[in-house]
Amino acid sequence: MQEKILILDFGSQTTQLIGRRVRELDTFCEIVPYNKFPKNDPSVIGVILSGSPYSVYDESAFKMDLSEIRGKYPILGICYGAQFMAYANGGKVEPAGSREYGRANLAKFDKENPLFKGFDENSQVWMSHGDTITTLPAGFKIIASTDKVQNAAYQAEGEKLWGVQFHPEVFHSTQGTQLLKNFVVGVCGSKQDWSPASFVESTVEELKKELGNDRVILGLSGGVDSSVCAVLLNKAIGKNLTCIFVDHGMLRKNEFKNVMHDYECLGLNVIGVDASEKFFKELEGVTEPERKRKIIGKGFVDVFDTEAKKITDAKWLAQGTIYPDRIESLSITGMVIKSHHNVGGLPEEMNLKLCEPLKWLFKDEVRRVGRQLGMPDHLINRHPFPGPGLAVRILGDITREKVQVLQEADDIFIQGLRDWGLYDQVWQAGVILLPIKSVGVMGDERTYERAVALRAVTSTDAMTADWAHLPYDFMAKVSNDIINKVKGVNRVCYDISSKPPATIEWE
Ligand code: XMP
Repeated sequence: MQEKILILDFGSQTTQLIGRRVRELDTFCEIVPYNKFPKNDPSVIGVILSGSPYSVYDESAFKMDLSEIRGKYPILGICYGAQFMAYANGGKVEPAGSREYGRANLAKFDKENPLFKGFDENSQVWMSHGDTITTLPAGFKIIASTDKVQNAAYQAEGEKLWGVQFHPEVFHSTQGTQLLKNFVVGVCGSKQDWSPASFVESTVEELKKELGNDRVILGLSGGVDSSVCAVLLNKAIGKNLTCIFVDHGMLRKNEFKNVMHDYECLGLNVIGVDASEKFFKELEGVTEPERKRKIIGKGFVDVFDTEAKKITDAKWLAQGTIYPDRIESLSITGMVIKSHHNVGGLPEEMNLKLCEPLKWLFKDEVRRVGRQLGMPDHLINRHPFPGPGLAVRILGDITREKVQVLQEADDIFIQGLRDWGLYDQVWQAGVILLPIKSVGVMGDERTYERAVALRAVTSTDAMTADWAHLPYDFMAKVSNDIINKVKGVNRVCYDISSKPPATIEWE
């Protein structure tokens, strides 16, 4: 049985980060909504309560019945999690006089407490709350204070129950990982045996058992998640896996051919479908971004459905859904800006059972699993690419000619990033074809041609992103190459917008 830490999500933006930190300790964890603690799960070895955007006094504040966990598991409450446990046990939480944000130092802490094992004097922690615990419940003792916050951390006497008002999961809490390790390993006794190798081994075993001799179909996109999913399934069930890769005509230059080649080398059984004609026809004259997305989404489902139906004995549909996709869609405060599902909405009458072997992994873990499976670096480190492809990077209507222009410019940019050793330093990059022309001069000739924008961002999860500070020499070379080599383009701009308020894609 895979032991795990359970993280109860009270809606904080850093809940996922707590999950990542626990995984970095080679310990499996699951994030569940605050009110969905699983009954009778013997694999739980400890519980963490996250922060929250609410104050414990808000009417709509998230609350749970602590008797479900208290005395049964070691517990660590973080920020709101700590305040909630104090409040629910008769302590007092009040608005902080000066809102307690930012860096602070643990001026005093109990060096003997297992939570602070290995801590330095004055260790820096990160505070981010509008409330503070002013009175602890009877039987709770202070174990750390900062200059401004007396009850910075507490423990219920004689119990494995702790609360910290700071955020150990964020980078600015310099010994935060040590604190989490003290809890997860020191207190909860994690064996730290969660690794890509153990994941591959146990998942392949489970898939073999679950799928038996059933036939499975999988939609491939060329991206990391679906590719790793395919290789994992291939290892478990081999020829019973059929992959379908649809070319909607708006992939990168030579992408379809190259990726098909990679898949063949990996021994996958792939049906490649060139459906570009259909997509170009349906997109003719369409300029509105959401309509483009809808047309492509529906067209994709149609083509996939037609191909899948040919595999008459298929019982399962596999998808490369990863953990953040699910957390976003399960999010209890539920703020989703764009929906990014490519295979979502497959017709229900297909009657296929869903198989999502990567559903517990974060992106970096998917990459580590891919490496463990022996996949080549260029597949694993591939930048994310939107399902609708270049269609959302051509502003205005879409034609084959525009796609070709964009493919050429994009290829120069991406190849340039590789040649200059910059590709792996950015999260994602691409070129956008703008719906404007501008005046230029080439030789003695006046030109009146298209403008393109380069976009390159750094990010860890695509939820937020900053524009990449690429070297000027590199940008000068790329701009020159695009203008000289791509017919029809005479101007190159660089997008210097961060997300938020901009998004990564322009449409
Ligand atoms: P935005 O533009 O929302 O993009 O900042 C965030 C990340 O999602 C990718 N993206 C998509 N991926 N289907 C996808 O599979 C889509 O429709 C889609 N739209 C955006 C985008 O490239 C970035 O990595």
